[in-house]
This record gives sequence, structure tokens and C-alpha cells, in this order.
Amino acid sequence: MTGTTAIRAFYSRRAALYDLIATAPGTGRWRRAAARRVAGRGATVVEMGCGTGANLPYLREAVGPEGRVLGVDITGPLLGYARERAGRYDNVGVLRADARRPPLEGADAVLGTFVCGLFSDPAAVVGRWCDLLKPGGRIGLLDASVSTAIAGRPLNPLFRAFVAAGSPTRGAGDVLAALCGAGDATLSRRIDAAREALTNRTRDRRYESFGLGFVGLSTGTIGGGAE
Ligand SMILES: C[S@@+](CC[C@H](N)C(=O)[O-])C[C@H]1O[C@@H](n2cnc3c(N)ncnc32)[C@H](O)[C@@H]1O
Repeated sequence: MTGTTAIRAFYSRRAALYDLIATAPGTGRWRRAAARRVAGRGATVVEMGCGTGANLPYLREAVGPEGRVLGVDITGPLLGYARERAGRYDNVGVLRADARRPPLEGADAVLGTFVCGLFSDPAAVVGRWCDLLKPGGRIGLLDASVSTAIAGRPLNPLFRAFVAAGSPTRGAGDVLAALCGAGDATLSRRIDAAREALTNRTRDRRYESFGLGFVGLSTGTIGGGAE
């Protein structure tokens, strides 16, 4: 398991920088798409690993004034930003809790963006997220991984270096190795496992990609793998 202490320490030191990256121009398109795919008007939606709350305004937009949005994260300084964003609305809140075992139940939708790659057993975590959904509930996973698109493939070494630089468990040597062509099998394995878990538990699935194929959004409706 990637230690939550290491994750907290890593993101706590970089909260302001992370918020800039999380809200960079262009990212809103993916976030709005993710919010719209999972959260309908009036829904109760939980965002797992909400970070600085970059998705919260889009989730609030999707659920409207009659829905409810809750962001869950373990990193206090990031939650400070999220709390400030949530404070603009009276139906958006944040909770400091471990998204691997969220102390919640009965949501209409769950969203996890750029978080599944941090879990040592993402399939189990995604399974628990599915368990807390009501019948017909929606789940969405937005993650970054190497691109298979023609336009994105030449940029894969840069992408891997960016990921290594932004990982709580990797260092300068990994950034250099990535620039020289080394892959990150762990990240790919975790994201594949998370997506497979979603596939196994949902119907009406959809996959779409953004940003030259580096960002993928998987969504589905709870209720079994067979279509
Ligand atoms: C790469 S950031 C993504 C933040 C946000 N989802 C976004 O799209 O900007 C990963 C986030 O996951 C959170 N996180 C990692 N492990 C977690 C856990 N077990 N429970 C809750 N949050 C967790 C980190 O604190 C961090 O905020």
C-alpha cells in the first residue's frame, strides 16, 4: 500500500502548486464532462480524493441547488482549498476521511479523478465505491495514463516524467529514467485494475479520452457487468 502518511506529506508540501495544476486552462473540459456523466440533477454525489476541490464547482453545476456534493480527502492543506470552494454553495461540503474505506452509504454517484493510481489495490477500492451506490447509481473514474493516440504517443516519455515528478513514491531518478524511455508499470496496472473493476460492476458503460489520449474517463451505472 502506498502509505497515506507519505501521500499526505507529499501533497501537503505542494498544495498551492497542485491547485494551480488542477485548475490549469483546459482541464475544466474533462472535469465538466466527468461531472455530467455521473451526476444528474438532484443527485447526491461523493467525490473520492477531491484534492483542492477542482471538480466541486462542476459537480455542483451538474446536481443543481437541489442535489448534494461531498468531497472526501485525507490531505488537510488540499482540503483547505476544497473547503473554500465548497463554501461558495450551501449544498457542497468536504470530509476528511480515507477514500479506500469511506464512512458513507447511499450515494447516487461516485467520482474519483486522478486518484486510483495511488491505491495499492484499486480494484478493491472501486468495488467498495460501487457498494455504497444506490441501485442505478453512477460511477466515474478519470485518470491519466500513457497515450495510444498517434498525436500523443511521441509525448509519452514527457508524460511519464511528469507523472514521476508528481508521484509521492518516486524521485528525481525516476523522472530521469522516464525521460530516457522507462515505463511506469505500476501506474498502468493500477489504472487498468480500477477500470476493470468498474467494468465488472456496471452496465451502460462509456469510455472517452481527452488531452491527446492521456486522460481517460470511464463511467457506468451500477447493476452488474452483463449488458
Ligand atoms: C492527484 S490528486 C487528485 C486530486 C483531485 N481528485 C483532482 O482531480 O484534482 C490525488 C488526491 O488523492 C488524495 N488521496 C490519496 N489517497 C487517498 C485516500 N486513501 N483517501 C482519500 N484521499 C486520498 C490525495 O490527498 C490527493 O488529494
